[in-house]
Amino acid sequence: METTQGHTGHMMMTEDVGHPSISTRARTMQDSPIRKLSATAEARKKQGVTVYHLNIGQPDLPTAPIVFETIRELELTTLAYAPSNGLPQAVTAWRNYLRQMGIEIEEKELIVTSGGSEAIIFAMCAVCDSGDDIIVFEPFYTNYNGFASVANVRLNPVPLTIENGFHLPSTEEIVKHITSRTKAILICSPANPTGTIYSKEEMQRLADIARRHNLFLLSDEVYREFAYDAPVHSVMSFPEISDRAVLLDSSSKRFNVCGARIGALASHNKEIVQSAFRFAMARLSVASIEQLALIPLLNSPRTYTQPIVEEFRRRRDTVYEGLKEIPGMRFYRPEGAFYIMIGLPVRDSERFSRWLIEEYQHNNETVLIAPGQGFYASPGQGVSEARLAFMLKSENLKRSLGILRHALEVYKQFS
Ligand SMILES: Cc1ncc(COP(=O)(O)O)c(C=O)c1O
Repeated sequence: METTQGHTGHMMMTEDVGHPSISTRARTMQDSPIRKLSATAEARKKQGVTVYHLNIGQPDLPTAPIVFETIRELELTTLAYAPSNGLPQAVTAWRNYLRQMGIEIEEKELIVTSGGSEAIIFAMCAVCDSGDDIIVFEPFYTNYNGFASVANVRLNPVPLTIENGFHLPSTEEIVKHITSRTKAILICSPANPTGTIYSKEEMQRLADIARRHNLFLLSDEVYREFAYDAPVHSVMSFPEISDRAVLLDSSSKRFNVCGARIGALASHNKEIVQSAFRFAMARLSVASIEQLALIPLLNSPRTYTQPIVEEFRRRRDTVYEGLKEIPGMRFYRPEGAFYIMIGLPVRDSERFSRWLIEEYQHNNETVLIAPGQGFYASPGQGVSEARLAFMLKSENLKRSLGILRHALEVYKQFS
């Protein structure tokens, strides 16, 4: 109990009733499974150990110089708010980009967002009320958990398996998970963390399920260009679901501009676009300089993406061949993106990953991998899996897989 002077000059008693508590959603928000071990990795590097990062999806190639040239040449006198739906030139550039990808969108059907992340949050908020659920195929991009938490949406996971390269299960299996609160299916193809690309038949099945069960189909296509063996089928190429398809996009990965934070949401459904616009108005605008800086790339995307896609194809091949050399490893050939989920011959990949970064070294080198569990919503799933990202040059990837193979032999002896 404290005594304080009130504004009338009288003495008042104030009772300390404890600390205010943060929300349940704040408390239960997960740590990034990708960044979790990064602090330990930094400490290890200070001890002189070389750490190969196979854990993170930050492309390592330089951004196209045109981005910085455009910024240098800007003649701005005031850095004003952009319109909430995006600068008109940027919206036009997004329309031009999508047209070159075979996707026809009118300018009024697109909102420029702060990365694909904001597009996903807007879409979740637009289609769900608090407590509604969205079907996701697990393993899934781990930040979907965080977005769902912000939007107060429940993710409703449908398990995929490594045995068929994380392709879709039967329609019956998917439909079984739909509840009275299910509002949408959220997909990602090419996928993070699996590199899987859904075939036309799989996309058609999803479109049919969405129609039959009156759901939205939210499609995260941020890895569109990174397709090595199979074509990517956009959600926008199924006209029969144009009223329920929502395209979620980002320039981050394809142009190596993760820090620009520029993405987009597009839909032929007017209500979806209008609600995304209202959410956009509440956050005023997306950074203007970055919107302008990306216009040349959006107008001429392939000049930048073609060479980098070839580089990532080489890396995918290196990883796939390298994994064949590791006894007991379960894996498949990822068709796109720059990730693979591997099945490790260990019981607990979290413990193994921690051991790799805290204790193990071979010729003063080790690797950092992302344990699988964080990519699943169902408890107990993915415990022996890990995600590898191909963010290193082929020779370093080869070396990293050699280290992983050696580490597994050592680990086997005392686990
Ligand atoms: C599948 C997927 N969707 C969306 C994003 C978000 O990207 P950004 O917000 O940088 O556009 C990422 C980033 O890693 C991702 O992997």
